[in-house]
Amino acid sequence: MADIDRNLALEMVRVTEAAALASARWMGRGDAKGADKAAVDAMRHAFDTVSVRGTVVIGEGERDEAPMLYIGEQVGLGWTSAMGKEDITSPRVDIAVDPLEGTNLCATGAPDSIAVIAIADDGRFLNAPDTYMEKIAVGPEARGAIDMNRPATWNLAAVAEAKGAKVGDLTACILDRPRHQPLIAEVRKAGARIRLIGDGDVSAAIATCKPNTGVDILLGSGGAPEGVLAAAAMRCLGGEMLGRLRYRSDEEKKRALLMGVVDHDKIYRADELAQGNVMFAATGVTEGALLRGCHFFGGGATTHSVIMRSASGTVRFIEATHDFTRKPNYDWLKKI
Ligand code: FBP
Repeated sequence: MADIDRNLALEMVRVTEAAALASARWMGRGDAKGADKAAVDAMRHAFDTVSVRGTVVIGEGERDEAPMLYIGEQVGLGWTSAMGKEDITSPRVDIAVDPLEGTNLCATGAPDSIAVIAIADDGRFLNAPDTYMEKIAVGPEARGAIDMNRPATWNLAAVAEAKGAKVGDLTACILDRPRHQPLIAEVRKAGARIRLIGDGDVSAAIATCKPNTGVDILLGSGGAPEGVLAAAAMRCLGGEMLGRLRYRSDEEKKRALLMGVVDHDKIYRADELAQGNVMFAATGVTEGALLRGCHFFGGGATTHSVIMRSASGTVRFIEATHDFTRKPNYDWLKKI
């Protein structure tokens, strides 16, 4: 099993920066698909400069429904080195991507859309189909206190106790969806405050680990791929996330079975969703609580990224200024 090289962290940021810059050009244009495609193209292009033998396990969908970054696609320079053959010295890694997490947020210019990558040692991410996942995420103080077999009311009380607070002091983040009406009613009855979000539950899970975001717990169901990405971040940040796959159809259940999921009601911990050495990188597309968005100026742009590793627990924020006039590889950005 290859150990993830820590230098790879910086390479990963280049990839999320490229995706963020490309999609940020589409901010507010009301075209979620266009923004997503720009992010995917840029991310795929950027991967061609990274020395890994990566396999996409969480991506843009199955091979027949995604032209790039599809599940199973091999990315990275390591597969065909300058010598034209596989470079067995470059690490084999699992890659989970969401080139634009929060496509609608970007399309409307709303906060918290990000470009995301997580990588793990080969074979260490849950191969999750594109279905839903029920999620509870909390920061380090409440790690070990949550239980997905118990109702939200119980979990809120447990998190409050772990944080030395009252339930009324807590804020729960929940995706604003009709399916969450009973959950929202229960949380209100329990007395906690709620932040309803339009999209973007990866950012919301991360927010539970950051004291100044004011989010104590993420509750509700969202995308399963986003669940694996969030789990990778929680591993690095010392928080906890529990997830249970929730299928919308028998077809999805069958696909999960084909991907190796046998226990359909299993509650996964973060260290089961994203095992081994994990690295997580994200760059802000629109302004957000964790990351600032991309800002353009004549001839360039600034980006704000975070990179973290589970092995060390180090969390680095990277602010970058990009001079497009000196980057021939960024020609595509000027054209947009
Ligand atoms: P996209 O970036 O694919 O638009 O996903 C945004 C998102 O809000 C995720 O953060 C979340 O996990 C999922 O969609 C929720 O799915 P749904 O919109 O079907 O409730």
